[in-house]
Amino acid sequence: MLVLGIETSCDETGIALFDTKRGLLSHTLYSQIEMHSEYGGVVPELASRDHIRRVLPLVKQTLHAAKCELHEIDAIAYTQGPGLAGALLVGASIGAALSFALKIPALGIHHLEGHLLSPLLSTPAPSFPFIALLVSGGHTQLMQVDAIGCYKLLGETVDDAAGEAFDKTAKLLGLGYPGGAALSKLARQGQAGRFKLPRPMLNSGDLNFSFSGLKTAVLTLINKQEITQQTSADIALAFQEAIVEVLTEKSLTALSRTGLTQLVVAGGVGANDQLRQNLSSKASAKGATVFYPELEFCTDNGAMIAFAGAMRLQASPDKIWPPASSFTVNARWNLEMLEEPDD
Ligand code: KG4
Ligand code: ZN
Repeated sequence: MLVLGIETSCDETGIALFDTKRGLLSHTLYSQIEMHSEYGGVVPELASRDHIRRVLPLVKQTLHAAKCELHEIDAIAYTQGPGLAGALLVGASIGAALSFALKIPALGIHHLEGHLLSPLLSTPAPSFPFIALLVSGGHTQLMQVDAIGCYKLLGETVDDAAGEAFDKTAKLLGLGYPGGAALSKLARQGQAGRFKLPRPMLNSGDLNFSFSGLKTAVLTLINKQEITQQTSADIALAFQEAIVEVLTEKSLTALSRTGLTQLVVAGGVGANDQLRQNLSSKASAKGATVFYPELEFCTDNGAMIAFAGAMRLQASPDKIWPPASSFTVNARWNLEMLEEPDD
């Protein structure tokens, strides 16, 4: 079964073709980062307009790369939410139109379900049940994943998301937008131990997070120092160490509280090398294994959406999925409200 995935929830247009027998055939991505960086953040109206320009050429390019024709596609999977309403509407309307014209099913996919399942695209892949640490620009959540569509929220941020904290701190350090990767690069030159930042909610007893205070602590630190390249790097490292320690400790607590031994890390912050090293070594010391998506599938992409669609189709082999006659998007959408596939 050949599934076309369409991701347009924020500032990346991602298209992919996933075949249930042959795996991922091709995927393409257009990032709008350069366009938004001028404004220091995503401008929703510009994002929607750009997705309109990109989706169809990328669909053609993805088909060409996979040596497939439009009529060979068996189903469309598009991101239905959460995300920017206007941006989501572009992918949803094109997905629904293709579904209607080709008389094939259209599946509206939850963006975070895409992220959650993305490590299953790699080998070795985790098996259900597992704990997922979702760390993106908009979300920071610990979920228990028992099966497709069966997600239990264990804890989440009470304010800023981890990626948002990286981006805001990067901005304070004069790095571009989004600054997570740049901050992480700068931190590599940092001197460990020069600065120590708070570990918010580390001992809160629950699995929630809070990151908004960290950027304030960074701002206070910046205001007290003469900012040289080395000082910036030292602050970047201190910030990263704080966030990595909290994410790691809470993930380990989630594993021990549930008795599970597999941890999946998904979302853009999952690309952070210090987080990866720290999580892997601490988890393996406790007999647990950590699974990461390929770096290119950590941030937003179409492959995870095509894959999530394919998993849902496979989980309900006898279900009749009519072609789309309408479509809807959910800018806000709770992952726990998703339903398990049925036949
Ligand atoms: O999952 P994603 O592509 O988009 C959302 O759905 O939000 O995540 C983007 C976030 C941004 O905040 C970005 O700064 C962060 O992931 N990010 C990183 C790294 N690469 C991307 N944060 C820390 N270290 C990185 N290497
Ligand atoms: Zn995302």
